[in-house]
Amino acid sequence: MTTLVIGGAGYIGSHVVRLLSDRGERVIVVDDLSTGLRARVEGSDLVELVELDVTRPDAAEKLAFQLRASGADAVIHFAAHKQVGQSVAKPELYWHDNIGGLANVLAACANAEVRDVVFSSSAAVYGVPDVDLVTEDLTPAPINPYGATKYVGEWMLADAERAHGMRTVALRYFNVAGAGHPELADTAVMNLVPIVLDALDRGEQPRVFGDDYDTPDGTCIRDYVHAEDLAEAHVAALDYLRGEDRPHRVFNVGTGTGSSVLEVLDAIARATGTEITPEIAPRRPGDPARLVCSTDRIEETLGWRATHDLDEIVTSAVQARRLA
Ligand SMILES: NC(=O)c1ccc[n+]([C@@H]2O[C@H](COP(=O)([O-])OP(=O)(O)OC[C@H]3O[C@@H](n4cnc5c(N)ncnc54)[C@H](O)[C@@H]3O)[C@@H](O)[C@H]2O)c1
Repeated sequence: MTTLVIGGAGYIGSHVVRLLSDRGERVIVVDDLSTGLRARVEGSDLVELVELDVTRPDAAEKLAFQLRASGADAVIHFAAHKQVGQSVAKPELYWHDNIGGLANVLAACANAEVRDVVFSSSAAVYGVPDVDLVTEDLTPAPINPYGATKYVGEWMLADAERAHGMRTVALRYFNVAGAGHPELADTAVMNLVPIVLDALDRGEQPRVFGDDYDTPDGTCIRDYVHAEDLAEAHVAALDYLRGEDRPHRVFNVGTGTGSSVLEVLDAIARATGTEITPEIAPRRPGDPARLVCSTDRIEETLGWRATHDLDEIVTSAVQARRLA
């Protein structure tokens, strides 16, 4: 079996590429290396890198050629801009590239008669839900262009199913962190764990945005999932799509357990042996107090469940940073 992985040189994509090639499957990585790293996908005879920007006007044609030439039977689409703040400042970039790129991918799949597509969605589709556990039945209400492009992306998958008989899965990732292999670590400093590790390396204390939320310790609670567990969820989604009669589905991918910002800082303090005394800053607009998912649907349908806890997530990120 051959899978075309778009954005496979990125942080999450490269974990999936590694897992598929470890299973003995061939992988064609399509990536423009704008944020991805060539080194993440080198070293296996089963993995080939094709450099291509999927937002280009001729990308659908080029992708269709790659699909036919490789005999790929499935596509996983990771490539996207993913910074919430940037999406508010430059919404047209997000609409053009995240939506335009996905449109090209789906057109190529229709053209090459590849039916199975897995798409990176996000908990950002939910906006600021006021519930203990977010289920997929909750009506999405994104509050920024990034989340909106992910929600529209899910509609596009459903439309492609109706129009072309495709079989698609959207995975709504919650807070992804950790590294399955040091060389695949998240090198961007955008999420809590890398931000804190980066501050500590510079001899600074991390900032906590708001300690007066309605949560047990006053800081925001999120659902942290290990990049390696997330990679397993993609493989489970591919296996699901390769079965019979698969209607378009969305699945939350998280652990079902919340950790507060202070709990994450404690885990980082344990893993690094450092004392952390955070500075408390004002709340940031748009941060929900709590964002934790129900994992019932993905457990029941895909048989997937996260196996790594917060300490393992944080320890793997710390070790990867030490070896970098
Ligand atoms: N990291 C997270 O916490 C998180 C959470 C929810 C959803 N997501 C989604 O998961 C996906 C992957 O995220 P990531 O953290 O691995 O990001 P990343 O930036 O590390 O990976 C994205 C990859 O796509 C490539 N790419 C970007 N634009 C491209 C284009 N036009 N053509 C070809 N390749 C292109 C980049 O070079 C990179 O290799 C994204 O769609 C993101 O929105 C990430």
